[in-house]
Amino acid sequence: PLSARVNRQDHLEVGDCDVLDLVQEFGSPLYILDEFTLRTACQQYRQAFKQFYPGDSLVMYASKAWNCLAVCAIANQEGLAIDVVSGGELLTALKAGVSSDKIYFHGNNKSRSELQQGIEAGCRIVVDNWHELRTLGILTTPDTPATILLRLTPGIECHTHEYIKTGHIDSKFGFDPDQLEEVFAYITQQTALTCIGLHAHIGSQIFELQPHKDLSAVLVTWMETAKRYGLPISELDVGGGLGIRYIEADDPPSIIDWAKVVCDHMVKACQAANVSLPRLICEPGRSLIGSACVTAYTIGSQKTVPGIRTYASVDGGMSDNPRPITYQSIYRVLAASKMSAPLSETITLAGKHCESGDVVIHDAQLPVLESGDIVAIPATGAYNYSMASNYNRVPRPAAVLVNNGQASLIVERETDADLIRYDRLPSYLKV
Ligand code: LLP
Repeated sequence: PLSARVNRQDHLEVGDCDVLDLVQEFGSPLYILDEFTLRTACQQYRQAFKQFYPGDSLVMYASKAWNCLAVCAIANQEGLAIDVVSGGELLTALKAGVSSDKIYFHGNNKSRSELQQGIEAGCRIVVDNWHELRTLGILTTPDTPATILLRLTPGIECHTHEYIKTGHIDSKFGFDPDQLEEVFAYITQQTALTCIGLHAHIGSQIFELQPHKDLSAVLVTWMETAKRYGLPISELDVGGGLGIRYIEADDPPSIIDWAKVVCDHMVKACQAANVSLPRLICEPGRSLIGSACVTAYTIGSQKTVPGIRTYASVDGGMSDNPRPITYQSIYRVLAASKMSAPLSETITLAGKHCESGDVVIHDAQLPVLESGDIVAIPATGAYNYSMASNYNRVPRPAAVLVNNGQASLIVERETDADLIRYDRLPSYLKV
């Protein structure tokens, strides 16, 4: 949970920093990332896998949730490996000092140059499909080999938003089970490719444990088949997917509970198949960083539609948090500038973007707000910064890392100059 409290000025503090002071210093909107919460989640995952899994294990941070230098550096310091899905994420992890054998390169359509970048860096490449496999066959040589894993579609359903399911058979990700034996046979012919593992990812923001119980058996079965083809499979990667609490009513399993189920079921599946334990890998994103951030906004205009609703608009919205409009995600809100004021109003917190769907929270319980009040939205660490855009040419916010009363800027706020940096005016249009 977030290290947050209310101070004597009745303001919200995160990491012992007054949110109003942070906004004063770094501007609004502002992503406020609590280092303690992030590190604690990293430690919980690592300790749980050590405790519950008798074999070797590796916890990876799925950096798509929030990829920037500081976050990669923290995950790395906590002993996590890093999952990247593009040349850009790979570059960031390398620049953050992550060693290449602790980087796993995912993605369903890595370009030729991204694959080349992965081979040159010497990271593990998680091959998603035939196109990538054949391209790797061409790009690798005995002098520039690649260590790979294979992503398979496990055929496991889960209950989450349609857009973030990945394990079902009709998914764009991974090799279809029908293709796998042919893939194994192909790899045995490729002297520059060493396939050390299998990977699957079921989906995201999942509260059930059953899908991950089932996944172990699926992976172990395919591991046995791959070994029959002579592939030196020693790693099974169960992906990420553990959900977090966005609102009171959400009740996800804890990191420890999830890890225990994943570990126990991998052990069981291996025992049932009478095979030795693989190195067990998991790659959570959301559950590592989601709860560690609050986004601070400043209240601007308000509008009451008589008898219907009051809108209060903030200085950001779908450009810094596209999740409500994309997945109908529900957030809660804290009145950071008047924490103990009675929650007497029902207010729809609207974004500043030019479409009606740009609402941060529908019908939130809030105190009477005035323009200039600061509100804070918890649990914005995952897929907010990383999916932020410049829609309506709004500059992306800054991000600060807070801990023990100290605040360090980790992402600068974009400037007006940044907004037009890549624009070019053909000479005949120049004024
Ligand atoms: N591994 C793979 C291969 C993945 O595709 C993902 C997420 C993860 C790990 C991490 O999953 P997590 O532990 O974070 O659930 N933008 C969406 C979520 C997309 C998830 C994409 N893949 C959202 O905001 O809900």
